[in-house]
Amino acid sequence: MRALVLGSAAGGGFPQWNCNCRVCRAARDVDGQAVPRTQSSVAVRGREGPWFLLNASPDLRAQLTLLPVERSDSIRTTAIGGIVLTDGEIDHTAGLLLLRESSAPISVYCGDGVRNALTAHYPLLPMLERYCGLSWTEIRSGEVTRLEGSSLEIESFSTGGDPPLYVGDANGLASIGLTVRDRTDGHALTYAPALAAFDDEIRDRFAASECVLVDGTFWTNDELLELGISTRDARAMGHVPLSGEDGTLSGLAALRSRVILVHVNNTNPILLDDSRERATVEASGIEVSYDGMEIEL
Ligand code: MLT
Ligand code: MN
Ligand code: ZN
Repeated sequence: MRALVLGSAAGGGFPQWNCNCRVCRAARDVDGQAVPRTQSSVAVRGREGPWFLLNASPDLRAQLTLLPVERSDSIRTTAIGGIVLTDGEIDHTAGLLLLRESSAPISVYCGDGVRNALTAHYPLLPMLERYCGLSWTEIRSGEVTRLEGSSLEIESFSTGGDPPLYVGDANGLASIGLTVRDRTDGHALTYAPALAAFDDEIRDRFAASECVLVDGTFWTNDELLELGISTRDARAMGHVPLSGEDGTLSGLAALRSRVILVHVNNTNPILLDDSRERATVEASGIEVSYDGMEIEL
């Protein structure tokens, strides 16, 4: 299996257009020790079959230049077999509309709650249906779903959190994580860009995967509050922070799997190449992803 981190930042990207925090400033500065990053998405490909996108970010058009264009005799060609959504957040779904030129119906895999959010509240799916057609496959928690035309299969698990703000107070719409497995060789990776709690069940699941691409959104729980830019802390936004007593870092460091942080928010000091926080992460044997990072299993 191959995985390619298309976008390693959280919503807003890095630097974020209206952010003047020290981390964003470093990404704009010519001598700054920080590499810009686009919004959250990963592409995966099995030994057989096309690439599948795990989430479709607003930066998708530029990100797709990282994927090879398939050789074909036809004038329309794509390397993408479908898109799997872990939630209905704007940073994970807005890119769907950028696929509307497709000459074949777009294949979307997501849970029923996300489908409803993207139909009744933020109607990307009915819009896509009208432009190019849509084929929806439901993902159910704990069930294995085959990705059509590929040797890959996915199994989802709840990672908690609350619904996107645009939905209002619809409850029961949690994010999911995905274990992606290649049937031909058994290799597996687990992807969880929004983790609201790091419990024993999730720890065991991570431990059973060779590679874990996991929520690296915030360093501290109060990161946004201390900067005065949000009234919701990390946990309230459905992201356990990395540091602190109940942070994920020590649990992730204890895993034998390869652990790579994704969905990193622009305020997180691990984005600074020369920061103490980055050094702490790396000393724990954990990697910070970057756009274009390639993973082979
Ligand atoms: C999240 O990851 O919590 C959301 O994408 C936040 C947002 O962009 O509104
Ligand atoms: Mn997000
Ligand atoms: Zn910032």
